[in-house]
Amino acid sequence: MNILEVQDLCKTYGKGEARVQALDHVNFSVGKGEFIAIVGESGSGKTTLARMIAGLQFPSGGNILVDGHGIYKNRKTVRGHYKSVQLIQQNSASALDPKMTVGKSVEEPLRCFFHMEKQERKKKCLELFSLCNLPASYYARLPSELSGGEQKRVAIARALAAEPKCLIFDEATNGFDLPLRKKIIEEIIVLQKQLGFTLIFITHDMELAVVIADEILVMKESVLMEQVAFTGDTTVFSNEYSKILLRASGLL
Ligand SMILES: Nc1ncnc2c1ncn2[C@@H]1O[C@H](COP(=O)(O)OP(=O)(O)OP(=O)(O)O)[C@@H](O)[C@H]1O
Ligand SMILES: [Mg+2]
Repeated sequence: MNILEVQDLCKTYGKGEARVQALDHVNFSVGKGEFIAIVGESGSGKTTLARMIAGLQFPSGGNILVDGHGIYKNRKTVRGHYKSVQLIQQNSASALDPKMTVGKSVEEPLRCFFHMEKQERKKKCLELFSLCNLPASYYARLPSELSGGEQKRVAIARALAAEPKCLIFDEATNGFDLPLRKKIIEEIIVLQKQLGFTLIFITHDMELAVVIADEILVMKESVLMEQVAFTGDTTVFSNEYSKILLRASGLL
C-alpha cells in the first residue's frame, strides 16, 4: 500500500492582484520505505508541498492521504497526523527553540507522543544523539552553542524521536560546504536503511537527486511535470523541462 497519496492538491496564497498559485492540481503517490527526491527551481512550490504533507498548512483544494487516511478532514485528523510525518525544515536553526537545550528539544516528542517519564526520556534522547552522531555532552547546550551541521543533526534526532513513517528533508543541507553536505546525506541514508521510514528529499540539485533517490519528481511553477522511477538511466525522463535540468547538470 502507498504510504502517501497526494490527490489533486492545490494551494493559493493571497487574493486579487496578490494571488499566487503555489500548487496547481498536483498528483502523486509514494510507496512505503521509498526514497524520493523532489527537484525544482526556486518558487516552484516545493516547501508549500512539504508543509502540506507534514500537516502544517491546509490545502486550498484536493487531499493528502497518509496510510490511506485523509489528513485534512478536520483539525483533529490533522493533529493525529503530526507524529507520522516529520519535516526537517529548510532553516533548521529557526526550527529549534533558541531558549531550550537541545536535549529538551529532542525529548519534547518523546513526552508529547509517547508520554515517557523523565529518566526514560533522557535515555532515549541520548540513544538518538548517538544515532545522529552527536556527543552526549551536548545534551545541556543551547542551539546557539552548536555549529550549523550539529543543529541539523539535532533537528534530525528530534524528528526521529517521533518514530515517523515518513521523513521530509526540505533543502536540508543547503548552506553547508560539500563535504558536510555529503556526510549528512550519507548519515540520512544509513538511518533510512536502519529504520525503514519513507524519505522525501527536496532539492534544487538534479545531480544529487539522481545519485540518491529511487524516484524523482520534477516541479516547475507550481506544477508537477513528471514522476519517474529512477534506476540510473536518464533517458527515462520524457518531460522537456526535466531534460533541461539534466543537461544543465551534464547528465544528458
Ligand atoms: N506564506 C506565503 N504567502 C504568500 N505567498 C507565498 C507564501 N509562501 C510561499 N509563497 C509563494 O508560493 C510560491 C511557492 O513557494 P515555495 O516556498 O513553496 O517554493 P519553493 O519551491 O520551496 O522555493 P525555494 O526553492 O526557493 O525554497 C512562491 O511564489 C512564493 O512566493
Ligand atoms: Mg523551499
